Amino acid sequence: MRLYVNIDHVATVREARKTDEPDPVRAAVLAELGGAEGITVHLREDRRHVNDRDVRLLMETVRTGVNLELSTDPAMVAKGLELAPFQVTLVPERRDEITTEGGLALTDPGVRSRVERGVGELQAQEIRVSLFIDPAAGALDVAAGLGVEAIELHTGEYANAGRASKAHELERLVVAADHGESLGLAVHAGHGLTYENVIPVAAIPSIEEVNIGHSIMSRAILVGMERAVREMRDLVLQAPERVREPGIWVPPQGF
Ligand code: PXP
Repeated sequence: MRLYVNIDHVATVREARKTDEPDPVRAAVLAELGGAEGITVHLREDRRHVNDRDVRLLMETVRTGVNLELSTDPAMVAKGLELAPFQVTLVPERRDEITTEGGLALTDPGVRSRVERGVGELQAQEIRVSLFIDPAAGALDVAAGLGVEAIELHTGEYANAGRASKAHELERLVVAADHGESLGLAVHAGHGLTYENVIPVAAIPSIEEVNIGHSIMSRAILVGMERAVREMRDLVLQAPERVREPGIWVPPQGF
């Protein structure tokens, strides 16, 4: 089982102020030090979190592999070709959604032909392609027919299910993962996975990779809070002694 860490929401915090911190590239390095086996980012058409600069620098910095999530829009596929990550995961994208909702509707001929074109272009440049799909046999069969290397099963319905339907949603994932494996596809999974619900999914033998973002970013903020506050408090308390240190900005004379 590999853990790919999605760092989009580091950039979401940066974009809340349109400034330069926190930097998702630095976060990627720390995620790798923590054991991430890959870094995932979703370059959205509206660039609401990571942007082209981030992905370019991630390509130079990440030592594991970059999994770049892209919509099937031809301009976004062209971005994938330009950035040439280890893997592109094609996902559905709507501008007004908060996060990716559902997998690619591969049984729809229009969606399928856009996906087919994207897959062909990416694979021609030797980029591994994964398709984000719902855990349904029809979508898996179409994905296998398109010749992709991998699929990512959407775990959102499992994650959101209440007690009454949780076991049923998990069973759908098990059946889909086994079917995907029997078709020769590498099976990944992701969306909505948390510290509370990941274990049953990560224990499915036919799933080889999970992609997790929001929950890890949420915990990182909380586990880092005490240290961040202590560091700022130390600076504030030590200010009278430290204000003359070399390199510390001081106001001009007469201020
Ligand atoms: N996989 C895909 C295809 C996604 O679009 C996302 C969200 O960007 C994730 C995994 C990660 O989901 P979460 O942030 O809920 O862990």
